[in-house]
Amino acid sequence: METKHMCLLVTTLLFIIVSIGDADTSPILVKKIKGKKVCDQGWECKGWSEYCCNLTISQYFDYYQFENLFSKRNSPVAHAVGFWDFKSFITASAIYQPLGFGTTGNKTTQMLEIAAFLAHVGSQTSCGYGVVTGGPTAWGLCYNKEMSPMQDYCDDNYKYTYPCAPGALYFGRGALPVFWNYNYGYLADCLKVDLLHHPEYLEQNATLAFQAAIFQWTTPLKKGQPSAHDIMVGNWKPTKNDTSSNRVPGFGATMNILYGERTCGKGDIDAMNTIITHYLYYLDLMGVGREQAGAHEVLTCAEQKPFNPSTPTTDSASS
Ligand SMILES: *[C@@H]1O[C@H](CO)[C@@H](O)[C@H](O)[C@H]1NC(C)=O
Ligand SMILES: *[C@@H]1O[C@H](CO)[C@@H](O)[C@H](O)[C@H]1NC(C)=O
Ligand SMILES: *[C@@H]1O[C@H](CO)[C@@H](O)[C@H](O)[C@H]1NC(C)=O
Ligand SMILES: *[C@@H]1O[C@H](CO)[C@@H](O)[C@H](O)[C@H]1NC(C)=O
Repeated sequence: METKHMCLLVTTLLFIIVSIGDADTSPILVKKIKGKKVCDQGWECKGWSEYCCNLTISQYFDYYQFENLFSKRNSPVAHAVGFWDFKSFITASAIYQPLGFGTTGNKTTQMLEIAAFLAHVGSQTSCGYGVVTGGPTAWGLCYNKEMSPMQDYCDDNYKYTYPCAPGALYFGRGALPVFWNYNYGYLADCLKVDLLHHPEYLEQNATLAFQAAIFQWTTPLKKGQPSAHDIMVGNWKPTKNDTSSNRVPGFGATMNILYGERTCGKGDIDAMNTIITHYLYYLDLMGVGREQAGAHEVLTCAEQKPFNPSTPTTDSASS
């Protein structure tokens, strides 16, 4: 009898905690492992991690903010109407939140990382570069794939490791578009999804598309290089070589990691500036404020030498 009452009491308490927080967040469960506080917040941040003791992404970035950032993605002239949504972003991020994606450091650091990640996504999937009204920043997530691929992106040098599947085309797809058989093959290995035979999964499943993008964001793409995540949360300490190549911690270095020589070290080019513009715009929309982004020197990569060797995973994108 006693125990039954206890369970009831615990259940009631949990419900109270739930109702204080956001409607669909789980209560924080806390324990100590070897003196370290670790937490579990249910499906969005699961697995007894230090990071799960902090806010989860949906606690500081909600549905309406996603709608504001990507407000035109479902307009009739967009190219992936009905595909992208907030839920698929949070579902995909749930895999990486226990590892620190959007959950590292204080709330400002967390929001800066999410704004930076989404700025890359928005700028790489925008269809607002031509005549469309509102400019590029209004049209993020307009695409989920390259519209008129000029080639099949099959590199024969990888015919033993990542042989192109018959009929499969490896043009750009996803939230941080993936190109080439070797990049699809590499992601297939890491995510345990057969993207080499089914590259089209990235244009059919928004959760998978976000998952692939967050994976690229949180994983060093080359040996000896930081991940974009590491750069944004302050985990990266530049070496002497980095410093002499003007590679400093900040948003600029994330462009260097993701696009290398395509975008960085070329002075003040539009391709770079439009990514920065997305970042600043999103910071404003998220209520963080663009002044939190830091000085121009850390935002830009105009004078940075590309990380060497330059990155494989996205270096052939659209250009
Ligand atoms: C959040 O963390 C960053 C980086 O550690 C620090 O510079 C900033 O002052 C902190 N902000 C607040 C409000 O504590
Ligand atoms: C959790 O947040 C606090 C302050 O907001 C921060 O100091 C701490 O580093 C964060 N934990 C992790 C694991 O990043
Ligand atoms: C979409 O991708 C997610 C994440 O990889 C996966 O869990 C889900 O099963 C996929 N959905 C379908 C319909 O294949
Ligand atoms: C540093 O840069 C020099 C000159 O570019 C290069 O020879 C050397 O290998 C680099 N060292 C590391 C650790 O990358």
